[in-house]
Amino acid sequence: MSQQPSAVQSGSFRIGGDLEVHRLGFGAMRLTGKGIWGEPEDVERARATLRRVRELDITFVDTADSYGPHVSEQLIREVLHPYGDIVIATKGGLLRTGANRWVPCGKPAYLRQAVHMSLRRLGVERIDLWQLHRVDPEVPADEQFAEIAAMQKEGLIRHVGLSEVGVDAIEAAGKHFVVATVQNEYNLVDRKSEAVLDYCTQHAIGFIPWFPLANGDLARPGTPFEGIARRLQLTASQLALAWILRRSPVMLPIPGTSRPEHLEENVRAAGVRLSDADFEEIDRQAAAPAG
Ligand SMILES: NC(=O)c1ccc[n+]([C@@H]2O[C@H](COP(=O)([O-])OP(=O)(O)OC[C@H]3O[C@@H](n4cnc5c(N)ncnc54)[C@H](OP(=O)(O)O)[C@@H]3O)[C@@H](O)[C@H]2O)c1
Repeated sequence: MSQQPSAVQSGSFRIGGDLEVHRLGFGAMRLTGKGIWGEPEDVERARATLRRVRELDITFVDTADSYGPHVSEQLIREVLHPYGDIVIATKGGLLRTGANRWVPCGKPAYLRQAVHMSLRRLGVERIDLWQLHRVDPEVPADEQFAEIAAMQKEGLIRHVGLSEVGVDAIEAAGKHFVVATVQNEYNLVDRKSEAVLDYCTQHAIGFIPWFPLANGDLARPGTPFEGIARRLQLTASQLALAWILRRSPVMLPIPGTSRPEHLEENVRAAGVRLSDADFEEIDRQAAAPAG
């Protein structure tokens, strides 16, 4: 554990078969104010966290136009542009009507505006990975997918991802474009997307688990995995991330933090290799009834 931490140790994955990233990434939603609204409380610390991203060899950063809104994308550009080998994955398709308020909007003209504005804020000519944050249930899905396919053909987007979808939506979208990634809620204690994860593994679709630390619960003292973590000399967050990385070769976790020291702690999970027995023991513990 004394070795210099590096995301290289998590191995790599080719998004859409051609865009290589180190599997352990960074989620940039926490670089905003309370309720994912406005500027972060400590903007200098947010900048320092982003500087550590590059130093720790992280090459996959997840954000969205709605984080702030705009704040996360703007900070990423300020600190990391020009990006070099760092892939910035952003999202669009959610309106923000206040702190902690998120409203899907999949009108084709709005999605197009979202892509143009993200291009401008991020300072790029093409977005490497653009994800539809939610499929809007009020707009025919085919209309949303067709507009995204058109923007990809026009060269505004390199690869397309979806978020919070089932296999049906992945297959419906697949008639319009290649679904390169799926971003669904998933962690040791929230496994409702197992079937989607298995589908992604079979089809070499990158699976980006959001809330990989269960919104921080898996990084705090008192998890059911404390005994195993102690035996393996890992912190709680490292155990959760090592397990998730081991779960599938298409897994691209994006733990979020606003602190450089937590980022470094999390990246140390990239170098952990769980044995089959430890992986299964953690899995059994996750399935055990609480208490
Ligand atoms: N597609 C979607 O709908 C969707 C929804 C939610 C999130 N996301 C994406 O998923 C990413 C990850 O989700 P998330 O950030 O919400 O949740 P998360 O990664 O499960 O947990 C983040 C929380 O854990 C804490 N934390 C992180 N590392 C820690 C450590 N080593 N020790 C102690 N605490 C630690 C952070 O606090 P500190 O800041 O204090 O470290 C933060 O409160 C987001 O950044 C975003 O990019 C996507």
